[in-house]
Amino acid sequence: MVTSVAPRVESLASSGIQSIPKEYIRPQEELTSIGNVLEEEKKEEGPRVPTIDLKEIDSEDNEVRQRCRQELKKAAMEWGVMQLVNHGISDELMDRVRKAGQKFFELPLEEKEKYANDQDSGKIQGYGSKLANNASGQLEWEDYFFHLVYPEEKRDLSIWPKTPSDYTEVTSEYARELRALASKILSALSLCLGLEEGRLEKEVGGLEELLLQMKINYYPKCPQPELALGVEAHTDVSALTFILHNMVPGLQLFYEGKWITAKCVPNSIIMHIGDTIEILSNGKYKSILHRGLVNKEKVRISWAVFCEPPKEKIILKPLPETVSETEPPLYPPRTFAQHIQHKLFRKTQDGLSK
Ligand code: OGA
Ligand code: NI
Repeated sequence: MVTSVAPRVESLASSGIQSIPKEYIRPQEELTSIGNVLEEEKKEEGPRVPTIDLKEIDSEDNEVRQRCRQELKKAAMEWGVMQLVNHGISDELMDRVRKAGQKFFELPLEEKEKYANDQDSGKIQGYGSKLANNASGQLEWEDYFFHLVYPEEKRDLSIWPKTPSDYTEVTSEYARELRALASKILSALSLCLGLEEGRLEKEVGGLEELLLQMKINYYPKCPQPELALGVEAHTDVSALTFILHNMVPGLQLFYEGKWITAKCVPNSIIMHIGDTIEILSNGKYKSILHRGLVNKEKVRISWAVFCEPPKEKIILKPLPETVSETEPPLYPPRTFAQHIQHKLFRKTQDGLSK
């Protein structure tokens, strides 16, 4: 495959250009749905991404616990995305994660380039920008840092940022806490489907095989934000995704035929149900289409942690308990790798339209 080298979006943004290169301009049909996200976020009307309070998820009181689980279940079935509060991860730790990532991105470009990935040679971890993957040459208004953060023995610490000096410690701590949170959520989602508590956790690989991959998305200010996207519309292939951000709006969800802007909820963690859980639950839990907008005024940074099953070891398909005569399996069996391939294929086929 021939790939052209895309510049870092950060360098484009700081060059003072007033109009963005054509590769970043979305197709005409899509432009009509892109607005000013800073204004959109302030609007009070319309549907809202549910906020789920996890305080009572482990309550001793059965009734209280059930109520909490039912809220989670409803959000997972209707939206497939939610703002988690009282999730048990301290504000202090989340702040340290944000500071560490922000400091890395504040390094001069030459410093960050020392961590550059090399997608052509299969080195996917590190600092990067999107390479065009279809005929249109379409690009996204972001740079990122991508690396595996859990299980600990699968990390390659040699490629983690060395500046700031607490990056590894802080990020490791956050990954451990997220891993525990993922287990808690998977238990509740299992019970709500009438499965044994540990079932979904086991089906996605358990402690040994479920991989947590962190992608720090860095969205520079954009001179023409209404022509570009930070991340194009997609569903996450993961089992679950957890997102932290720097309180600058940008995330939109495609809900009931319209793009809804997520509000910035202090101290929350956004959680997506990904395709993997959607498939295992035979579509009962939804993997929602979402995208990221950019703006003129503020740099946006988000920390997405994708909890992913192993690429080849597990065949993903609707669990027998979720299938019945009236609910036939909606997804053919496939490995996680095949699922990713399948999506990529559909997209490259599609070329200009999506
Ligand atoms: C992603 C994503 C949205 C965001 O990285 O998959 O959807 O808020 N990011 O940055
Ligand atoms: Ni996503």
